[in-house]
Amino acid sequence: MSDLIQWGPGLYTGIAIIDEDHKKLVDMLNKLNAAMKEGKGKEILASLLHDLVQYTVKHFGHEEQLMTQHKYADSVRHIAEHKKLVAEVVAFKEKLESGTAMISIDLLKFLRDWLGTHILFSDKKLGDALAADGVK
Ligand SMILES: [Fe+2]
Ligand SMILES: [Fe+2]
Repeated sequence: MSDLIQWGPGLYTGIAIIDEDHKKLVDMLNKLNAAMKEGKGKEILASLLHDLVQYTVKHFGHEEQLMTQHKYADSVRHIAEHKKLVAEVVAFKEKLESGTAMISIDLLKFLRDWLGTHILFSDKKLGDALAADGVK
């Protein structure tokens, strides 16, 4: 089965802990995609989405800690983006739990872009700044 999002150099930020987290998030998203395509039940899909949300929050915490430690210049904008991403996915999770929405291809595409765009623009920029400050 083809993955929704491919993990590879195109997504690397060059910072080990951030890349490890991103790989895990990509895996979780692909797992959710596979479960949906296999026709898994609503509970299983909701629990995979729940795990993805939890890990996302944890991961954003890791990045924000690095931003603080290294006095990252663009932290206010980046953290606002994290807040918005969490709010969007939590809103979707609530719709799913209340039965007003279903896990669909559209949701998965939304999540793919949601994660992918943030990594490609904001996290890579953060990675460059951290690398310039000696973080590996
Ligand atoms: Fe980020
Ligand atoms: Fe990230």
